[in-house]
Amino acid sequence: MSATAGRANDQETQEQRRGGFSSRRVFILAAIGSAVGLGNIWRFPYVAYENGGGAFLLPYLVALLTAGIPFLLLDYALGHRHRGSAPLSFARLRRGSEGFGWWQVGICFVIAVYYAAVLAWALRYTFFSLDEAWGDDPDAFFFGEFLQLSDDVEVTTDVVAGVLVPLLIVWLVVLAVMALGVQRGIGAVSLVFIPVLVLAFVALVVRALFLPGAGSGLDALFTPDWSALTSASVWAAAFGQIFFSLSIGFGIMITYASYVRRREDMTGSGLVVGFSNSSFELLAGIGVFAALGFMAQANGVAVDEVASDGIGLAFIAFPTIISEAPGGALIGVLFFGSLVIAGITSLISVIEVVISAVRDKLDTGRLTATLAVVIPTAVLSLVLFSTTSGIYVLDVVDRFVNQYGILVVALISMLVVAWVLRALPALAEHLNVHGRPRLGTGWRVLISVVAPLGLAIVLVFALRDDLAEPYEGYPTWLLLTFGWLMVLALPIVAFVLARLPWRAGTHLDGPPPGSDPAVPLGASAPAAPDTGHVEGGQR
Ligand code: ALA
Repeated sequence: MSATAGRANDQETQEQRRGGFSSRRVFILAAIGSAVGLGNIWRFPYVAYENGGGAFLLPYLVALLTAGIPFLLLDYALGHRHRGSAPLSFARLRRGSEGFGWWQVGICFVIAVYYAAVLAWALRYTFFSLDEAWGDDPDAFFFGEFLQLSDDVEVTTDVVAGVLVPLLIVWLVVLAVMALGVQRGIGAVSLVFIPVLVLAFVALVVRALFLPGAGSGLDALFTPDWSALTSASVWAAAFGQIFFSLSIGFGIMITYASYVRRREDMTGSGLVVGFSNSSFELLAGIGVFAALGFMAQANGVAVDEVASDGIGLAFIAFPTIISEAPGGALIGVLFFGSLVIAGITSLISVIEVVISAVRDKLDTGRLTATLAVVIPTAVLSLVLFSTTSGIYVLDVVDRFVNQYGILVVALISMLVVAWVLRALPALAEHLNVHGRPRLGTGWRVLISVVAPLGLAIVLVFALRDDLAEPYEGYPTWLLLTFGWLMVLALPIVAFVLARLPWRAGTHLDGPPPGSDPAVPLGASAPAAPDTGHVEGGQR
């Protein structure tokens, strides 16, 4: 057998072991499941409202078309061409860039740890909705009775059983799904959950639209404040929203694309995923603000007095709406049930980034890798977030990992892939073999100039705000430990992990056989100095 044929065989066996989605449809549903999550339901409505209302749709669309979808396609090209987890795909692109993949794996580990906690709250609230367990004061109930929040900002070890139990359930579900594998676990869950989510959420939005006062909520959301368009922070908000919401820049779409059969149209799939995610986001905006309009009218106040973001919206405003609206229990089950379903399909995609990286690097079986990743992640999640101080840590980690984790690695990796590795022509050509519409110069300009510029602006604004005053007034030690040091540690640990050897037999030299390497790296541009590439060798 020739060396090339042997390598192709090895590659095939390796791919069979990794598993994959049975069809393009399953992949698209899984990718939509990953993209549609907490970011759509509780983040988008308030971000849009805060940043110009109807006028925000313009920067949002610009961010989606100039950065979001182009970057999604870059992730797809990396994973589909190089057929590996984020570290393996980057290592195959160029050995020295493997660290970017581990950086993304680290971000996913951190997100998984706290994302599960919010799901656990939503799970508990789905049942609380049935008998309006929060009574007359949802605010006091959430922070007091439910979370038993400590008065001082501190890290405690006092466990709250009411959070511990649902959190344990969330992790057991994740463990079961991940152990079943790519198709039987992630694929099957997406096939069932995404249609259920769409039905439940559409039912919720229709119900909300028929509540008295819904129109004033929609007016508040969509009345355009055109002056907002001259504010750079509004544009920054649009770019920030798109990256988290589309699940791009943190390894998920690279990993999922590596599970798609070779001869598939990845470009068309990317457009379907991108526009589905944004449609869901708009739907969430309509549903949430219709309900807030009702709440404002019922309390005789303006919508801006009841509108709030994230935790306040889901766990304080919505319980109030549920208590006041006719048929409130149904609204509660639909809202919190949707949060749980949307969140779980995102959480499994986040944790799959870590599992697949461990599998590729150490050559372990699916079950071993699942146990090795999920158990420590779950333990950390339980230790940090089932205590009376969980919400403080969660708030800080969420803010920092989103701003300075996802966006920084996205910005740097995009610049390196475009300007140092000069890989865009080869990646575009890979997508163009089976994908339509074809990607050309426009896509390359967006990835190498426009999207990085957008991200850089977002980062400058975030940094300016965080340096001007401590985030949410939290004490410096909390911001340092769970914010700045955490985001600094991620790339350092990542580039150390990248020094560890790959399992014997893993091919790192360029794209694997059969992956349509129509254009070699750097074909249309002078090659950059190669510092990390080892031709044909294993480390
Ligand atoms: N894209 C996921 C969300 O929006 C992570 O929550």
